[in-house]
Parts: sequence; C-alpha cells; structure tokens
Amino acid sequence: MIDPQISEWVSQLLRWVHVVAAIAWIGSSFYFIHLDLSLKKREGLPAGVGGEAWQVHGGGFYRMQKYVVAPPELPKELTWFKWESYSTWITGFFLLVWVYYLQADLFTVDPAVRALPGWQAAAIGIGALVVGWLVYDGLCRSPLGRNDAALAVVVFLIIVAAAYAFTLVFSGRAAFLHVGAMIATWMTASVAMVIIPNQKKVVADLLAGRVPDPSLGKAAKQRSTHNNYLTLPVVFLMLSSHYPLAWSSRWSWAIVGLVVIAGAVIRHFYNSRHADRGSPWWTWGVAAACLALAIWLSIAGKPGSAVAAAPQGASAAAVSAAFDDAVLAIQSRCAMCHAAEPAHPGFPIAPKGVRLDTPEEIARHAQAIRIQSVLTHAMPPNNLTGMTPEERQTVAAWLSTLKR
Ligand code: HEC
Repeated sequence: MIDPQISEWVSQLLRWVHVVAAIAWIGSSFYFIHLDLSLKKREGLPAGVGGEAWQVHGGGFYRMQKYVVAPPELPKELTWFKWESYSTWITGFFLLVWVYYLQADLFTVDPAVRALPGWQAAAIGIGALVVGWLVYDGLCRSPLGRNDAALAVVVFLIIVAAAYAFTLVFSGRAAFLHVGAMIATWMTASVAMVIIPNQKKVVADLLAGRVPDPSLGKAAKQRSTHNNYLTLPVVFLMLSSHYPLAWSSRWSWAIVGLVVIAGAVIRHFYNSRHADRGSPWWTWGVAAACLALAIWLSIAGKPGSAVAAAPQGASAAAVSAAFDDAVLAIQSRCAMCHAAEPAHPGFPIAPKGVRLDTPEEIARHAQAIRIQSVLTHAMPPNNLTGMTPEERQTVAAWLSTLKR
C-alpha cells in the first residue's frame, strides 16, 4: 500500500502536468483556429499562398502566410504540433487510473448504482474509451461522414447516449468524467491517427512529385473542426467533479447534452468573428438558455431536498437540539475522513482540508455540507459510511434553522 501522503502528492503533481499540457494544447489549437480563419488574400502573395495575416505580440510583428497545400520546397525545420495533444491525453489517462480506478470505491463505484468490483469498473471505463473511439472513427469514415451536419447530429446523440449509459454503471461523478475522457480520446486519437498521418502522406506525395489526394486534407479538417467545437464541453466535464449538483441529478445525461450545445455555440461565436463573418450574438442567448435549463434540471432532479423551513419562532432550545442531532450524524458518518487525523485508511489529512470533527467546524461548513450531503449525495463518497436517509433529514432539519 502506497503511503497516503505520497499518493496525495502523486495526484497533485499529475494534475499539475495534465492541466499545463491541456493549456498548451488548447492554447495552440485556439491560436491556429484564429490564425486560419483570419487569413486574408492579398495582391502579391507568393505562389501557393492562400492568405496572409499580420499579428503583433510581445513586442514583435509577425507576418503569417498559409500555403494551401504545401510550399514548393519544404523547409528543413518544420514544427509539428502534436505533443501538446498526446501529453494531455497520456497524463489524463494516468490521472484517470490513479484517481478513478485505483480509488474506485471513493470515486467510481456507487453501490446504489451498481456494486462493481474496482477492476471491473476500470475494465468498463477503458473498454468504453476504446469502443467509443471505434464508433466515432467508423462514423467519420462511413458515408455519413460526407455530410457534416448529419454527422454532427449523430455524434451529439452518441455523446448523450454514452452519458446515459455511464450513469447506469458508475457514480454520477465518474459518469461525467468518463464522457469527458471519451470525447478527449476522440480528439487526441484523431490527431494521432488521422490529422498527423494524413499530413505526412501529403508531404510524402509532394516530395515524390505526386498530386496529394484532396480527401486526406478534408478528413483532417473535419476532425479538427470537431475538436474545436468539443473543447469547451470537455473542459466543463473535467472540472465538474467538484460540483455535484450537475452530476447528481437524475437528468445528468441531459445536462451533458445541454453543455455540449452551449460550448459549441460559444465556439461558433468566436469562429465567426475570427473569420470576419460578423458577431452572431444569438449564440450567447442559446448558450444562456441551455445553461439555465441545465441548472433547472440539476435542481429539479437532485436526489435530496432540504426539509421545509423551520417553524416560525422555533424555540432556542429546539434549534440547539437540532444542531446537536446533526453534529451527531455528521460525526458518525463524516468525521472518520474529515478529521485532523482521519481514522479512515488512505487519508493523510482531512480531504480538501475540510474538518467535520467538532461542532465549530461543522457549523463553519454548513453550506458545503448542504451541497454535498443534503441537496446531493456526493458525500459520503458513494455512501461508503452508510449514511441513512433519516440522518440526512436530521442534517437538513438543522440547516433549515440557519439564516441563509
Ligand atoms: C470515506 C471518506 C469520506 C467520508 C466518510 C466523507 N468524505 Fe467528504 N470528502 C472525501 C474526499 C475524498 C473528498 C475530496 C473529493 C474530491 O477530490 O473532490 C471530500 C470532500 C468533501 C468536501 C469538499 C468538497 C469540495 O470539493 O470542496 C466536503 C464539504 C465534504 N467532503 C463533506 C462531507 C460530509 C458532510 C460528509 C458526511 C456526510 C463527508 N464529507 C464524508 C472523503 C470523505
């Protein structure tokens, strides 16, 4: 068994590298989308150049020119952008294994959903990533792939269906993370297996004096467009683990669909502006409506509810008794992890620094307790300590005596 302090550090360092890699990937990808869309045709561009953009950054002026297929002669030094993507996926995969498979009982397996052994949860998760890629890649290569709009609709429906399927086997939190991991796998595998290989084939053809097959470029462009529109939803899904309202809801799979639409239309707004095709402000209206509906679904479909407000003029003694009962429930169901020295194995200190072992600490964390264990059942994780519905009611009864 790994020392929990080392394990905690491995988590933190892996997450650090993963986020830095993702920033590099998304940054370069947003940059190139912007550059590509803002290129302008001008008089006097060299042969083969389709457009040019002038940019200023960090004290210098840049004159970017894009060769539509390739320059007549390839330079010796050519920068390929691929490791930003690969390293994001690789570190993400390690993080998935480290957090969601090696600590499956905390994060992935919810016995109320399905009591899987940890290794089965891992096998289902990794299997889903592989199958998800085969389905997505197959669709893009199939005749459907020639119709961009129809393909987009089918890919969207697959994302929502996968989200629903994951909620049947995993905790809500792990379900969201696996949808994000599935889409992110499409994105990186597209770079590794379509975008870069096709570009290499084009280069090889040009060097050999052959005319490259235009379908190579078209397929790469299609994947790259999907990647662009899927970036924002993936980031939402990856960050969602800390916000249980979205993934605890009965409608969590629909919330995934709404977030995909919202993220995609916001990308569309920026893409249109970069390309000088005006500012489609309607996209913000659509995104706001989708997110408002997502928020509503998260509240309407949450597992728990606060009990009715405390009776008017409840006596001070009744309020104090409600608090004492709640403290008892929390100390018996939460404090084995959330204590200065947790009794539960695997925790060097209270998770996320949240201590719930004294009445003062419990009172201080009232609102967090409301979100994590009354409105949602995110805590205890996968109800490891068997908190009963009555105990949640007891906590809710105390919370209802507080002024918000
Ligand atoms: C088995 C150990 C365990 C038990 C029992 C437990 N928690 Fe937690 N708690 C965790 C872990 C692990 C995290 C960190 C989750 C993460 O990484 O996002 C956490 C995080 C939290 C957070 C911070 C959430 C955030 O992201 O800011 C709160 C609040 C919390 N728990 C409340 C509770 C309450 C209330 C109970 C009892 C009803 C409880 N916990 C029971 C392990 C536990």
